[in-house]
Amino acid sequence: MTVVPYKDKESGKKEQVAEMFDNISQNYDFLNHFLSLGIDIRWRKKAIKLLREDKPRLILDIATGTGDFAIEALALNPDKVIGVDISEGMLSVGREKMKRKGYDDRIELQQGDSEGLLFEDNKFDAVIVSFGVRNFENLDKGLADMYRVLKPGGKAVVLEFSRPNRFPFKQLYNFYFKAILPKIGKVISKDRAAYTYLPESVEAFPDGDRFLAHMQQVGYKNTKCKPLTFGVSSIYVGEKA
Ligand SMILES: C[S@@+](CC[C@H](N)C(=O)[O-])C[C@H]1O[C@@H](n2cnc3c(N)ncnc32)[C@H](O)[C@@H]1O
Repeated sequence: MTVVPYKDKESGKKEQVAEMFDNISQNYDFLNHFLSLGIDIRWRKKAIKLLREDKPRLILDIATGTGDFAIEALALNPDKVIGVDISEGMLSVGREKMKRKGYDDRIELQQGDSEGLLFEDNKFDAVIVSFGVRNFENLDKGLADMYRVLKPGGKAVVLEFSRPNRFPFKQLYNFYFKAILPKIGKVISKDRAAYTYLPESVEAFPDGDRFLAHMQQVGYKNTKCKPLTFGVSSIYVGEKA
């Protein structure tokens, strides 16, 4: 069953996800770092390091949101990072941030749907996505389109929440993610559903080997999964042959 943020609405997952991120965009960065105790920043850095040897010149950051993964990718010293997202609210917070930090000459944020990218085949040296794939309406379509725009020899790096399965991390995680986080998220973001949708969408997401199977099915080779912080997040990597 598809998990959506607003169960009483009839619109599809994509429209609801865009609406939800528009609603929480002003508080998104603060809540991200606050609720994860800043660990999300370390996770993004680790994921980007996996591309160091590849020296990608042109990078596509899918579901870029307010652009934090795109900013992290500047550590690779690329010519350009293009970020795409369906939420204009998130992009507009991101564009302000790029201007403020002086990154707007190297990071370009565009509205776009990762399940129908408006780029030609084989364009990017690397494609990256953090905490985005879980929100796709059609996971395989999104993964296949990322593959299509990636150059042969290029890598896709995906960072996404996963579920710890060992005692006591599983129990601690469930308590925090299901009991604490939705309450704090609701008060600060003022969106009634966003931080209930978060644990629900993680629960429904095919993590670990199941995600690698989705990557392989659309063509990625040499796929790998690297769990982080007791399995709370995982980095997935795949190559285009
Ligand atoms: C949790 S945020 C992650 C943002 C950013 N990558 C980060 O690490 O902070 C998820 C983002 O995915 C975007 N998104 C969801 N489905 C999408 C799609 N089909 N195409 C493009 N963006 C999408 C949402 O609008 C949202 O900004």
